[in-house]
Amino acid sequence: MPPITLLRFLEMQKLLSDSPQLLSVIMGIAQSCKSIAREVGHGALLGNMGDVGNENVQGEQQKTLDVMSNEIFIKLAEDNPNLAGIASEEMEHALVFSGKAGDYLLVFDPLDGSSNVNLNLSVGSIFSILPRPAGDSVLVEQDFLQAGTQQLCAGYALYGTSTMLVLTTGQGVDGFTLDTASGEFMLTHPGMRIVSDTQEFAINMSNQRFWQPPVQRYIDECVAGADGPRGKDFNMRWVASMVAEVHRLLVRGGVFLYPLDSRTKGKGGRLRLLYEANPMGWLLEQAGGLAATGHRRLLEIEPIALHQRVPVMLGAKEEIELLLSYHSLKDPTA
Ligand code: AHG
Ligand code: MN
Ligand code: MN
Repeated sequence: MPPITLLRFLEMQKLLSDSPQLLSVIMGIAQSCKSIAREVGHGALLGNMGDVGNENVQGEQQKTLDVMSNEIFIKLAEDNPNLAGIASEEMEHALVFSGKAGDYLLVFDPLDGSSNVNLNLSVGSIFSILPRPAGDSVLVEQDFLQAGTQQLCAGYALYGTSTMLVLTTGQGVDGFTLDTASGEFMLTHPGMRIVSDTQEFAINMSNQRFWQPPVQRYIDECVAGADGPRGKDFNMRWVASMVAEVHRLLVRGGVFLYPLDSRTKGKGGRLRLLYEANPMGWLLEQAGGLAATGHRRLLEIEPIALHQRVPVMLGAKEEIELLLSYHSLKDPTA
């Protein structure tokens, strides 16, 4: 079979005939991710790897690359007539392009895992395209507060040993690798599915004493391995870069958990709903897995704030169902 470019693939998904505007937004995102990959690839040569000396709205130190990546996305959005507004992890408020009649909104985490940047470990970008609500003459921030079930396209770019773009438009999950010679994203991972039978979990174990009892139980049983109720040994990974963790789930299965803990409870969790949990959650569902908070399906949460945080449990269906069953066993505080 001849190699298939991202554009050709999206045309084959009938996006060109059904929704050329959506296709143009996706191609714009791919272009932005290529630019970010180039900046990330410069490493220390251009002095891109340090802190800016500023905190973002989340109270996190911004890295130079966080800001550069955000600017690359803003430029894409300004230039694309189909985008009416954007919201980003790095901006307190949504950016609305008054006077533009675009049908789409874009929410994104321009650089995920940026604490890994100066370690030369994998980082990524996460994006979610939402419809502009019908009938709205003036776009307002409230219009971005849509449940994950409303997403039209979601995905991530992984700046790893190679640069990959992995996305869904609701027709499964497909992965593309950047051919640096031609500058094209080529289809290399068609129809990604999460395997059901794996023995790998990803969680920040240093938070263990703060977790709720259902998560304590699930992880205790994994760690007990072949001698415990699961009857098999588990392996653990923690990259501290959600994009890399989700990519591992799609390639070789397992679970990724960032649960509620007693310190983040007041905030609702660690990861952000609109531009981290929802796009990754939809990818997982589209790959045959599940995405939950512990008590409910992630994608059904009606957001109440742009930077809202949620507990996140992503992975193979059987594992997430087990976690959900432990939660429903009763922990009224969770
Ligand atoms: P970001 O760099 O966009 O702020 O996101 C980092 C997130 C996520 O990628 C990762 O899973 C998690 O933070 C890492 O958390 P710890 O600091 O607890 O390892
Ligand atoms: Mn992130
Ligand atoms: Mn980020």
